[in-house]
This record gives sequence, structure tokens and C-alpha cells, in this order.
Amino acid sequence: MSARSRLPHLPHVSQSPTDPDFFNDPYGFYRDIRAMGDFVYWTDYDMVMATTHQACAAVLKHPKLGRAAIDPAPVREDEKLKHFKALERFSLLELEPPDHGRIRRAAMGGFGRTRIAGLAPDIARIADDLISDFPSGPFDFIEHFAHPYPARIITRFFGLPESMAGALQGWSNDMVAIYQARRSPELDARADASAREFATYLRQVMAGRGSVPQEDFLSELIKAEAEGTLHSLEELLSTVVLLLNAGHEATVHALGHAMNLLADFPERSLALSLENIAATVEECLRFRPPLHMFHRDVYEDVVIEDQPFARGDRIGVLLGSACHDDAIWPDGEHFDPFRPRHSNLSLGSGIHVCIGASLARLEMQIALPAFFSRCPNLRIVEPPKLSDRYHFHGLEKLMVRCS
Ligand code: HEM
Repeated sequence: MSARSRLPHLPHVSQSPTDPDFFNDPYGFYRDIRAMGDFVYWTDYDMVMATTHQACAAVLKHPKLGRAAIDPAPVREDEKLKHFKALERFSLLELEPPDHGRIRRAAMGGFGRTRIAGLAPDIARIADDLISDFPSGPFDFIEHFAHPYPARIITRFFGLPESMAGALQGWSNDMVAIYQARRSPELDARADASAREFATYLRQVMAGRGSVPQEDFLSELIKAEAEGTLHSLEELLSTVVLLLNAGHEATVHALGHAMNLLADFPERSLALSLENIAATVEECLRFRPPLHMFHRDVYEDVVIEDQPFARGDRIGVLLGSACHDDAIWPDGEHFDPFRPRHSNLSLGSGIHVCIGASLARLEMQIALPAFFSRCPNLRIVEPPKLSDRYHFHGLEKLMVRCS
């Protein structure tokens, strides 16, 4: 039974996610649907969507809801996506307790406060190197900084050679492309080929690390598998690939948006000062969240914000809408790094909350001041171009010049 027939009393809205007017600026649509209530039924997705900050947070934190499909499709041998599916199978994003907690604990080992803080000098060096290599004329900030910066950092974080960052970036882009609203056989084929190459490369590196462990995160995960916290090589591979992919894609978009917001911001120096930089990064993430929609399956009958849901329902969580909720951020359509702080949902909430949140924040807190102190005259020379992938809301191109 479709959500439409089960929840006929909810307001119905229609909006194609591939309509350029929409994905270029979804915030007007979000404002309209929040005015209709905590939940609406979005016909194009045949799904109920949580619209407000409160409803989205309640869905994400609810113990009877989860990311793993309630009725997983019968495992069909899909030859065309064999390698991709193998890497996705034990992804944290596809699991619920108890497996989720066990694998997440193994991965969390890499994200301790001390370890992340210890990365700061390396991150600053990577930012500096990339800025030094900027072309003298107009250039695309996304290509020259937003992509390579997190790719090099996550490569370094795992203890892989930085020279592999380009290849990892390519594999990651191809694999993540499969989650967009517009899919095609060509995209699927590319995602599967990249998954195969990615897994082959990691198996080779891990074979070396297994016999000669090093002081890096990859060696730690290999140890977790040897000691039984991770149950198989497949779990290990899925975890590494998820972290490498997630550690790259969303950060690219977060950096692109932040540059675009700050380039012409009149109080930029104050916003980037040591005392304000953390708040500025939070406001960038709130104002332009890179990931706009996730969903949860309902495992038992529940009531959320007075709305009953039945086992088997699926609820969309509109993070992009939640982050602009005027009930929490008055004048939420306005970028204001100096507004009173309130935690936002751009990095999620509940048991699947972003594992790399502290790394992502640190990357931005280092990059933004470094960039503008070395390029104080930066200006945007062409209207920025948004990517047509609605769920991953990011700039495809941001042409700037430094002098
Ligand atoms: C600004 C950059 C980032 C944003 C906006 C972001 C956003 C998110 C969000 C919203 C979720 C929750 C998804 C859900 O609830 O269904 C999530 C989960 C996740 N993120 Fe991030 N993320 C970012 C950077 C990173 C980085 C740098 C890493 C790794 C180094 C990472 C790794 C992960 C992983 C592994 C999960 C799944 C956690 C789980 O299911 O338990 N992310 N992220």
C-alpha cells in the first residue's frame, strides 16, 4: 500500500527533484511545506516527509525507526552491480543494531578527540600546498581546492599515500553518483567498475599492512578484524570504503558553499577570527547543508509529533528544510554567523549521526581562514553553478580569482 493511501489526511505536495528551478533553490519549497505542518506527503517520492527541525530530529532519534530496509528486497544476483553491492553490504549506513553499533565502535577508534586534533598540522599543510598551486588567472575553486583538499586529508588519515588521492576521488565520485535522483545504466556501470578497482587496491594495501602494521587508521581497522570486532574482510572493506567516500563528497560541497557565502560577506574578517570561526562553520553548514534528504523505515507502530505511523511506513527526513526552520533560527533565510547558537541537523542526529563530524568541522575551520588570509582579494567571477543532484546539494563549479 502506498503512503498516499495510508496517510490520506496529510497535505500532498508535488515537486520534481530534477527540476532545475527546484534544485537550484529548494528553500522556497521547504518554507511552503513547513507551513503545512511537521509532515507532508511528497507525491514524486511517494513518501511522507518530515519538514521541521523538531520532526526531523524526532525521526532521526527514534529507536523504532532505522535506515535498514524493513523488507529488504530479496538478494538478487545483480551482475551489473556486483562489486558495488558487495562494498555497500556492510556499510554502516545500511545497518542497524547490534551490527551497526559493533562496526561503528570499530570505526570510532579513528575519530577520538586527540587523534583528530593531532591532524591539524597536516591539514594546514595540505591547505597551504593547494593554495600555493592556485593559477594566477580565474580558476574553478571546486576543482582546485574543494575536491582535492578533503581527498588528500582522508587519504592521509587512513595512512594511504597522498598520491592516491586523485584515484580515490574518482572512485568515490563514481560510486556516490548512484545515489542521485537521475540514474542511468552508464552511471551504474561506472559505479561498479570503480567499486571493483577500489576493492582491488585496498586488498593489496591491506595485505601489506596486515604483515607490517603501521601507526595509522587502516592498520587499526585491520587489527579490529584480526581481533574479531569486525567479523570479516567484507565488513572491513565496506567500512573503509564508506569512510573514504563519505569523508570526501559532503565536505567538497560544504567547502564550496562556504566559499561562496564568505567571498562577499561584509564582516568576513570578524567571522573568520579565532573566536568566531567555529560558529561561522556551523552557520555555513546550517545555511547550506550539503545533504538534503535521508529516510528511515518504521519498524513498529509509533506516534511522532502527534502523527501515527505504521510498521512498514517510510519517512523522508528533509535536513535542508530542518536547517532553515524559522521556529529555531528566526530569519533563517539569512546567513548570519553571529546569530545565537543552536545545534542543527546538517550532520545528522541519532545513532547514524555523522562519524566524521569533528574532522569535517576541523577541515573547514582550517581551510576558510587560510584561504582568505592568502587570497584577501578573492572574488567570484561567474555565477556559481549548482550540481543537478538534489540529494547532494553542492556547487559543481565556482569560478574565482585571487588577484
Ligand atoms: C561537511 C561534511 C559532512 C556532512 C555534511 C556529513 C553529513 C552526514 C549526515 C547528515 C549523516 C547522517 C546520515 C543519516 O542519518 O542517515 C552522516 C553520516 C556519516 N558520515 Fe558524514 N558528513 C560529512 C563529513 C564526513 C566525513 C569527513 C566523514 C568521514 C571521515 C563522514 C563519515 C560518515 C559516516 C561513516 C556516516 C554514517 C554513520 C552511521 O551510519 O553510523 N562524514 N554524515
